[in-house]
Amino acid sequence: MTQEEASLEARLEEQEQFEPPESFVEQANVSDPGIYDEFEEHWPECWERAADLLSWDTPYETVLEDGDAPFYEWFTGGELNASYNCLDRHVEGGAEDRTAITWEGEPGETRTYTYGELLDEVEAFAATLRDLGVEADDVVTLYMPMIPELPIAMLACARIGAPHSVVFAGFSADALATRMNAADSEYLVTCDGYYRRGDALDHISKANEGLEGVDHEVSDVVVVDRLDDALEHSLASNQHDYAELVDEHEGASVEPVTRDAEDMLFLMYTSGTTGQPKGVKHTTGGYLAYTAWTSQAVLDVKPEDTYWCAADIGWITGHSYIVYGPLALGTTTVMYEGTPDYPEKDRLWEIVETNEVDIFYTAPTAIRAFMKWGKEYPEGHDLSSLRLLGTVGEPINPRAWKWYYQHIGDEECPIVDTWWQTETGGMMITTLPGVNTMKPGSAGPPLPGIDARVVDANGEEVDAGQAGYVTVDRPWPGMLRTLYQNDERFLAEYWQEYSDEDADEWVYFPEDGAKIDDDGYITILGRVDDVINVSGHRLGTMEIESAVVGVEGVAEAAVVGGDHEVKGEAVYVYAIPEDGYDAGDELEERAIQGVVDSIGPIAKPEEVVFTPELPKTRSGKIMRRLLEDIASGNELGNTSTLRNPDVVDDIAEQVEDD
Ligand code: PRX
Repeated sequence: MTQEEASLEARLEEQEQFEPPESFVEQANVSDPGIYDEFEEHWPECWERAADLLSWDTPYETVLEDGDAPFYEWFTGGELNASYNCLDRHVEGGAEDRTAITWEGEPGETRTYTYGELLDEVEAFAATLRDLGVEADDVVTLYMPMIPELPIAMLACARIGAPHSVVFAGFSADALATRMNAADSEYLVTCDGYYRRGDALDHISKANEGLEGVDHEVSDVVVVDRLDDALEHSLASNQHDYAELVDEHEGASVEPVTRDAEDMLFLMYTSGTTGQPKGVKHTTGGYLAYTAWTSQAVLDVKPEDTYWCAADIGWITGHSYIVYGPLALGTTTVMYEGTPDYPEKDRLWEIVETNEVDIFYTAPTAIRAFMKWGKEYPEGHDLSSLRLLGTVGEPINPRAWKWYYQHIGDEECPIVDTWWQTETGGMMITTLPGVNTMKPGSAGPPLPGIDARVVDANGEEVDAGQAGYVTVDRPWPGMLRTLYQNDERFLAEYWQEYSDEDADEWVYFPEDGAKIDDDGYITILGRVDDVINVSGHRLGTMEIESAVVGVEGVAEAAVVGGDHEVKGEAVYVYAIPEDGYDAGDELEERAIQGVVDSIGPIAKPEEVVFTPELPKTRSGKIMRRLLEDIASGNELGNTSTLRNPDVVDDIAEQVEDD
């Protein structure tokens, strides 16, 4: 390190606040600090600003309908189509030749779709789906990796009013079956495979295995041939080749189906406290308006930009900020199939340089990996096209924030640390990059119009610096409307904790801990339920536990998250072997495989510790906090209230030995 670099590092290390560069503010979509008061004074009409970003077939009558809270309705009476808003209107407005999607395959090939081409492709696939019998309101499951056919299929579904349910391609066959069963989905779009670190991965076998676990008849399966000859596969009688069907429907014209603002656009299954994933329901009007608005205000997206959110479309981040938000604004959105370190650890920077990416949005876990690999990888590329950086998915520690700021943004790009959830549809707490001072480690104030607070267990706002829980005291357009076919669970999961039902006061509880400072900046501390965050991916400990207990030879198990340098949190399993089973490598292997088979490799345990007993309170509850501390290598507090304190030392010793 040169002396100059060393002094820069030292200065950055001490600096706690950063101002957005003047050059950024001058061109920002939102730069007037008055926007917070404006939204406050005109709430809820302020949300018309979001709705105005869309083209409506029928104008809405009411911005917010709260008569049946917390079953709120937004932009009621309004009608629109999401695919029309993401495609046709840009083509009609003269942007036919602008690139909509730039796709980079892992082996190095690229594909681009102009808005005109994407519309043609979406119409051909929409016609295909219709011919297969898909009707409005039929849930179509999309089990696909990062290939262009995924957003094409999403928009084709939206075009004909069929909600999609995207299942992350890294999820297992079991996870696919669970989600298809929960949604009663009779149609599946999948692919033969995809590339990962140079290998052609077989995906179709996993899809077929999942189909065996579906408890109702699946009418049709469409299979995209991504791997050509790299993987031989045969199609069953109800399975069709994507390209053949699309060829047959080339040139088809499919009128976008007019949807009510409150009609379901998609379902997204996410992990919760119980073993059963929650089917989060998002609607057409509110969700699309909210993702378009936040893409514009927070990500500063402009139609002429090349914008890259390096997430996977299988998660909410990709839905909102690779597909719907950016395409609604008519910008160019980048998709990358592979991993950041293949063929070299500079792959992402090469993509930024060659595509002259303006805006880059990723997860802190990726930034921690970049830091570990070293600054020489970004330094080898010209990243001067970048204007704004973003993070999402988990807390970012100030060191990683500063590394991102210095080595990727060259101290010239504001960073937005955006807190939100599958359920919120879009960003909720973050700075506005053209308005606010940035404080590394703190997401920032709630967005204009968002009434997020930090409260204690009684719902009273905490003092600055005190830890509490996040609540959202007023609804917002992008919010989930319910859990699919389960209003009861919707009420119990999100509204029970802090609402006063008798007074008709409804408070949304996201189940995150947080602190607030004197300027109203919120620092997120993490989940307060049994959900853990591994590399920005949300996993339910109960789901993992039931997978481990399902393994022959395991009697009982507790799963917790422990600190991990790159992943943020990692999965730790503490298990009691059944009598007659040896707590050795073989059982450990099987326990790990059980988790991978039931959920997918993302949930793979970092460690399985066998123990004759789990630490329990006198009333028989497993002391998870204690196990978390052991996994994270933290100092252990008082264990005298345990029924079996000795077991703690045994477990801790085993973890240290490993
Ligand atoms: O704990 C919070 C964390 O991710 C959770 C939501 O996970 P999911 O629904 O999968 O959505 C992730 C992408 C939006 C939250 O409850 N989280 C998300 N963003 C942040 C975060 N934690 C801290 N800072 C963030 N910026």
